[in-house]
Amino acid sequence: MAESVNNLNGDSAERSGEDRIAAVRDAGLVALSASETADALQEWRNQYIGRSGEVTLLLRGVGSLPAEQRAGFGQAANRLKNELEAAYGQREAAISVLTGPIGAIDVSLPGRSPAGGRLHPITQTIREITAAFGAMGFQTFEGPEVEFEGYNFDAMNIPSDHPAREMFDTFWLDRVDEDGNKSILLRTHTSPMQARIMETHEPPIRVVVPGRCYRYEATDASHEWHFNQVEVMAVDECITFADLKGTLYEFARRVFGPERKVRFRCDFFPFVEPGVDMSVDCFNCDGDPACRICRGSGWLEILGAGMVHPEVLRRSGYDPNKYTGFAAGMGVERVAMLKHGIDDIRHFYTNDMRFLSQF
Ligand code: PHE
Repeated sequence: MAESVNNLNGDSAERSGEDRIAAVRDAGLVALSASETADALQEWRNQYIGRSGEVTLLLRGVGSLPAEQRAGFGQAANRLKNELEAAYGQREAAISVLTGPIGAIDVSLPGRSPAGGRLHPITQTIREITAAFGAMGFQTFEGPEVEFEGYNFDAMNIPSDHPAREMFDTFWLDRVDEDGNKSILLRTHTSPMQARIMETHEPPIRVVVPGRCYRYEATDASHEWHFNQVEVMAVDECITFADLKGTLYEFARRVFGPERKVRFRCDFFPFVEPGVDMSVDCFNCDGDPACRICRGSGWLEILGAGMVHPEVLRRSGYDPNKYTGFAAGMGVERVAMLKHGIDDIRHFYTNDMRFLSQF
């Protein structure tokens, strides 16, 4: 090649140098745009700008040119090298979008929708419970989680020397009254709202009160130091135990299924008389000893209830000879656990998306 260049006179030698560069350029660009895969691109690279590629050969040949042609040819070949390298870079970027590690783009694939949020299962359960009572004419109220001792205990017929206070292991707040008694606490149940509502409303009263409660106790599969309750209360002239049974029965059917049976048994709460607990028959089995929801008993205890104690009515300013009422209180987590067959209350509060996204 050097010989043929040497044999030509100056002008035509320069032209033939330009021609050779233009020929490599044209062929290179055409071949580049025809390269459609990463492999083809690699091959093109070897052929044109690789170590023994055509552009490299042009540059290597510079040394054997007549001195007066070297500078011009060398610059032109370098420009070509830069141009083809830039074109290669662009082509590579275009092809890697199409054939990159995530594979070819299929424009017919649906887009990825952003992960939507949802209501916490406990919020869903609270809404289900309040809706069931709402359909029976009960209004939803909320009240303070930080409560006076007087409402949490005294108004509920639990005086300070009453042994029933021991039923509630309480988080007391540091504030003390003049006698040095702690008088503010995190409410241990939603029942104090019975008194708050009666104090500020005239009968007839029909309310449901969902809300968070706190008890100072060790956490295990069925106990959390904070949990939710729903309080239910109806007060009017002539409310009877039959109203309690009918209302709670209807609630059980709405939340646990239309086939449900209910069972009432005597229980004690200082703020009701008589007091009961209510169970529904297990919706998961027919008394199957292996049932993991009812553990073979066939019954699920879901709430405490009773006729509002005359002393509670009196303390709240109602005449117990004129008015009667019923009240009930249920643990929301327990209702949710029974409904969904969840075996550990702690699942609700560990923020594990694998659990939460099932609801
Ligand atoms: N407050 C009671 C508890 O926390 C439940 C209850 C409410 C019982 C209303 C009877 C009537 O256990």
